[in-house]
Amino acid sequence: MSRDHLPDEEHKMRIALHVNGNPVEAEVPTTMRLLEFLRDRLHLTGVKEVCAEGECGACSIMFNGRVVNSCLVLAVEADGGEVVTVEGIDHPVQRTMRETHAVQCGYCFPGMVVTAADLINKTNNLDRATIRAELAGNVCRCTGYAKILDAVEKAASEKGN
Ligand code: FES
Ligand code: FES
Repeated sequence: MSRDHLPDEEHKMRIALHVNGNPVEAEVPTTMRLLEFLRDRLHLTGVKEVCAEGECGACSIMFNGRVVNSCLVLAVEADGGEVVTVEGIDHPVQRTMRETHAVQCGYCFPGMVVTAADLINKTNNLDRATIRAELAGNVCRCTGYAKILDAVEKAASEKGN
């Protein structure tokens, strides 16, 4: 059955949450994913959809302090929560990704930034193997990963890791 014909498409619920520090209230279908709410209602199009099944990380966001795949979260589950998308992130890893030319098509980039920034913020003494393991949930089809790892290593070392 396609998503357009789910039986409870007409059931709606009012939600209130914070997105990138701003209060947001909306009425949403109970079947709407958080990914769609962020992209289609709030126009936060840095949140990308690729696999839609939790495998690629393109839709990564911060939700209540943790990186999650927004394609696997319903908008109604975000009620009362704190969401941060790439649009709400200002982190040195964004600059180091540019400096190391870590981006090609850019489709993976927002999710990669969300995951990498959280990793650097929360972890000390990051080595390349750990960075590679922690970024395993963010798939890049273009770069071969080496320059992404360079960028994350560089940002981590600037922090003093
Ligand atoms: S689109 Fe969400 S993990 Fe791929
Ligand atoms: S730069 Fe194209 S998917 Fe990563």
